[in-house]
Amino acid sequence: MGLGKLRQSLTAREIFGLVQEDLKRVEEQITLESVGSVDAVTAIARHLHESGGKRIRPILLLLACRLFREPGTAAIRLAAVVEMIHAATLVHDDVIDGATTRRGRPSTNALWGNQTSVLAGDWLYMQAFQMALGERNFHILDVLIALTQMMVEGELVQLERLRRVDVSEADYMELVDRKTASLFSACARLGAVTGGAGDEAEQRLADFAWNLGMAFQLVDDILDFTSRETVLGKPVGNDLREGKVTLPLIYALDGASPEDRRMVECVISAGNYSRVTLAQILDLIERHRGFDRARDRANQFADKARKLITSFPESPSQKALLSVTELVTEREY
Ligand code: IPE
Ligand code: IPE
Ligand code: MG
Ligand code: MG
Repeated sequence: MGLGKLRQSLTAREIFGLVQEDLKRVEEQITLESVGSVDAVTAIARHLHESGGKRIRPILLLLACRLFREPGTAAIRLAAVVEMIHAATLVHDDVIDGATTRRGRPSTNALWGNQTSVLAGDWLYMQAFQMALGERNFHILDVLIALTQMMVEGELVQLERLRRVDVSEADYMELVDRKTASLFSACARLGAVTGGAGDEAEQRLADFAWNLGMAFQLVDDILDFTSRETVLGKPVGNDLREGKVTLPLIYALDGASPEDRRMVECVISAGNYSRVTLAQILDLIERHRGFDRARDRANQFADKARKLITSFPESPSQKALLSVTELVTEREY
């Protein structure tokens, strides 16, 4: 999966053009900072960097900064930092989940094994923090450290809940907040800080991106069921196979028959779709309107995000952030 498709739609929506030059500098910075004194670290950091990804987090940071001023070296550096923190969480996450594919390529753990991947993930986190330290700004460090702890705690909470069918909507939302929305929110916040925004605007942007992040993860969890591996860059139906009951299924199970419940339990305990097929699970979710309801919920978060971003004065970057919101709910991967 390359950037091609998203790049196109971003350009069409006047987003990518705005940050294209900034992003080039961000990519250069990541390349420059992805070199360790041990070969494995450099190879893993490169593997991840070159395998693409949507770069939505740095884009968010740069656009948030652009609401106030042109991104300077601080914004460029922090955009690289958030992408590297994201990469570190993905390396660790794939070890935890035993995932073999990421961004349409073999995952780092599939190529280098768990031990090396865990250490490379640690290195990436520390490299990102060291880069952030360069700003000599405690507020920035506060944001990044609190965020990383939130995300790690999220992975721990998720581990505790793994393979449980009785997950509530509130449990699920807490995880999405920790796993995804908190990082989105931090990106917009750091963009605002580097743009020189006041406290109130910084908080409003953080709230905007938090809602955007919630919508993003809900859509991700729908796509996990409804997309195709070639589009998604990771196998379809993976969440349930890994023992994660996500929103479409939580809604579907609410009021489902004991037989339906048993079908879901069967996939979770087997860890595959050999006895109960993915098609049967999709049918179950459809019958109980799980996808419709999850999509409605994602749209509610997106609407909230739209409302918050339209409270800023109209400008090219404000419009672009509004378009990112559309893109998140309409995306296919
Ligand atoms: C993957 O994030 C992890 C989730 C929060 C779902 P992205 O979907 O942004 O991953 P890349 O960076 O584009 O590969
Ligand atoms: C995404 O978690 C990784 C983080 C945000 C820490 P998941 O395990 O739910 O997502 P994918 O499916 O591996 O991208
Ligand atoms: Mg995973
Ligand atoms: Mg995970």
